[in-house]
Amino acid sequence: MGNVVSTVRSADPAQVKVRPHLHVESQQNQKKKVLFVTPEFSDLIKVGGLGDVSSSLPRALAEFHDIRVLIPGYSQVMDSGHPIRIVGKVEGRAAIPPCRIGRMDLADGLIVYVLICPELFEREGNPYGDAQGRDWPDNHIRFARLGLAAADLASGHAGISWCPQLVHANDWPAALAPAYMALRGERTPSVFTIHNLTYQGLCDAECLPELGIPSQAFVSEGLEFYGKLSFLKAGIAYSSHITTVSKTYAHEITTAEDGCGLDGLLRRRAIEGRLTGITNGIDRSWEPGSDPHLIEGFTNLEAEGKAAHARYIEETFGLDHSDGPLFVVVSRLVHQKGIDLTRAIAGDIVAAGGRIAVIGRGEPALEVDMVKLAEQYPGRIGVNIGFNELDARRMFAGSDFLLMPSRFEPCGLSQMYAQRFGSLPIAHRTGGLVDTIEDGVTGFLFSDATAESYRDAVMRAINIHQHPELMNAMRRRAMMSPMYWADSVKPYDELYRSLVRERVSRSLAAEVGRRN
Ligand code: ADP
Ligand code: GLC
Repeated sequence: MGNVVSTVRSADPAQVKVRPHLHVESQQNQKKKVLFVTPEFSDLIKVGGLGDVSSSLPRALAEFHDIRVLIPGYSQVMDSGHPIRIVGKVEGRAAIPPCRIGRMDLADGLIVYVLICPELFEREGNPYGDAQGRDWPDNHIRFARLGLAAADLASGHAGISWCPQLVHANDWPAALAPAYMALRGERTPSVFTIHNLTYQGLCDAECLPELGIPSQAFVSEGLEFYGKLSFLKAGIAYSSHITTVSKTYAHEITTAEDGCGLDGLLRRRAIEGRLTGITNGIDRSWEPGSDPHLIEGFTNLEAEGKAAHARYIEETFGLDHSDGPLFVVVSRLVHQKGIDLTRAIAGDIVAAGGRIAVIGRGEPALEVDMVKLAEQYPGRIGVNIGFNELDARRMFAGSDFLLMPSRFEPCGLSQMYAQRFGSLPIAHRTGGLVDTIEDGVTGFLFSDATAESYRDAVMRAINIHQHPELMNAMRRRAMMSPMYWADSVKPYDELYRSLVRERVSRSLAAEVGRRN
């Protein structure tokens, strides 16, 4: 690789002794080698927004860093048709089996390392569970495998000459990476990003020996959480720096109300300056003028594009044609997303002349509720249970409003996609929704996660819809508002550089100390 930087360890000792500060400065502008560890990657496998961020953020950072992705070799990854070259292997530990590491070179140059371990990863279902939505019982082993492989790559024990200068782990499935690194004395810095604090990766204390984690780590400053082993807490406790996906959520998780029992530790990290909120961006595939998923691209509201997609939604969801407002839900069907709140006010939307199209899958009880709702209002509410990227994009493009009454929302990408495609989000005033929606300008926010508060916002939206000039003015503002990663990636770049710099300065100081 042309951009491989020489590390201090391999630098000429004379240079280190005479001009250490110049050496540090010359390193600062170089690309750093970063390993981005994630359980989802939307090019190959996506459950929600983590997949999108994992495929778009490393690409946006590639201009500044030599960043490579590490993902498990699920069936969807192994069968994706991308050639995979075996480049390394990692040892097993305790109940964690050994595995091979493959390398995929994607068309745009992004390098993806794949953990090849058929017994753990090549199964029918999604990354976390089977086709019925039940979590895999050995998830602790599966994702310990991911974290341990990242740690092995960081310490050069994977048989791969490329060795990261920083490891960036995402959400609980990758959270043991910083722990394994720290517990073996590895000084490579790590960033741990919390995309959702409520998914914690808890398992019984008895699992500790299976994961090859020493019992000294099972303490409240380590990975113990009310008598259980918490992957998420391990990430928080052992990483050099924690980020989360919006500024508002970074604050919320330090409060007792939204901190899921981890607020004390997170408050301490915030005080230490080791917790930062960096609001997600979106990638250039979300351009209404050029998105190949669309029937017809559009760059302005006068074009036929939006109307063509409205017709597509009507046909796909069996909705009557009408000039009334068209609402969509594109969501995982889980408690977090306030699906029950939409159900509670759906009758009011229909009574006011609205129609609703829903696509989603998730908790079986919510799926059943949504199907019943569609049966109750034929021609007015249409529900498809499933996951379909093409339909999702066309729904953002063809709708007037996106319903997103999330009880909490670390960032949320759907509201930004909707805005970019000229659909106004109606959302609860929480987390990243606060940071990305300006009430009455680029969408509508409501304050309490109750049907009453939500209904008021929906009625405000319906009122605006009756005034096409106002509606179009808001749509235009919304289309301009989401940040592309290219414009919002700087904080990650700066964070990576400062952590690597700190690490280099510490090594240099130790080196100089030894030589004097
Ligand atoms: P979360 O990650 O909590 O699910 P986000 O708003 O960050 O929420 O991201 C959700 C992503 O998943 C968006 O890209 C959205 O379009 C997509 N998505 C959610 N449900 C579906 C579905 N049923 N079909 C297609 N895409 C979906
Ligand atoms: C999580 C969050 C969502 C966020 C996404 C990407 O799934 O629930 O709010 O947008 O991660 O960071």
